[in-house]
Amino acid sequence: MTQFLFVTDLDNTLVGDDKALAQLNEHLQQHRQEYGTKIVYATGRSPILYQELKEQKNLLEPDALILAVGTEIYTHGSPTPDPDWSQILSPGWDRDLIVSITANFPDLVLQPDSEQRLFKVSFFLPQLAAATVLRKLEADLHKSNLNVKLIYSSGQDLDIVPRSSDKGRAVQFLSQKWEFVAEKTVVCGDSGNDIALFAVGVGRGIIVGNARPELLQWHNENPNDYHYLAKNVCASGIIEGLKYFGFLR
Ligand code: GLC
Ligand code: MG
Repeated sequence: MTQFLFVTDLDNTLVGDDKALAQLNEHLQQHRQEYGTKIVYATGRSPILYQELKEQKNLLEPDALILAVGTEIYTHGSPTPDPDWSQILSPGWDRDLIVSITANFPDLVLQPDSEQRLFKVSFFLPQLAAATVLRKLEADLHKSNLNVKLIYSSGQDLDIVPRSSDKGRAVQFLSQKWEFVAEKTVVCGDSGNDIALFAVGVGRGIIVGNARPELLQWHNENPNDYHYLAKNVCASGIIEGLKYFGFLR
């Protein structure tokens, strides 16, 4: 057994089965103590909604936190996001212009204020309207030379973020900083905003058994040996995958 970099999405990946979560926490805590394994949460949630879940589910204190779909990285319990990462996201980002362009789309409903972040503008968008709206919105944003990326998850959430940002890029930033090779990195996820975790590099990946159609479709179109589709759901699927890759016994 050796040290590895463990990265997981929260909602419906790490969290969703309390009993399995407690089991996984025990494994991870022990591994961190014995081998210096690092634990990272990568979620779409803002600091406020993350804190809520952390208290509700008694989550382990992570070594780093990737919040707001990869647009904010917090290390060593720091209350402010990593400024080096923010600097990478700044060029070509114009929040006000993005908001004004999205105002032309009546299907887009702004998410609560807490989820609107410096480098993230988020809406609810019904699945039925999604394909048409996403196509037109993307074209309009690019026409205005905005350097952005649209991330649609779970048939309801639309995040607009800088093109240089997503959960995968944020993990890359951390693994370079901490010098973890791909073979010693594992990411876990269930939905659209996790695709970037799997698409970046050749690190190991665990897709939990309850994954959403958008991630399953991506996996079917981009199959490879270093991504494992678990049979079990949520934390139980993660334990299954960690054993499959030999990270756990
Ligand atoms: C979380 C965030 C929300 C985001 C969604 C998908 O639910 O709170 O703002 O749209 O994740 O990334
Ligand atoms: Mg999720």
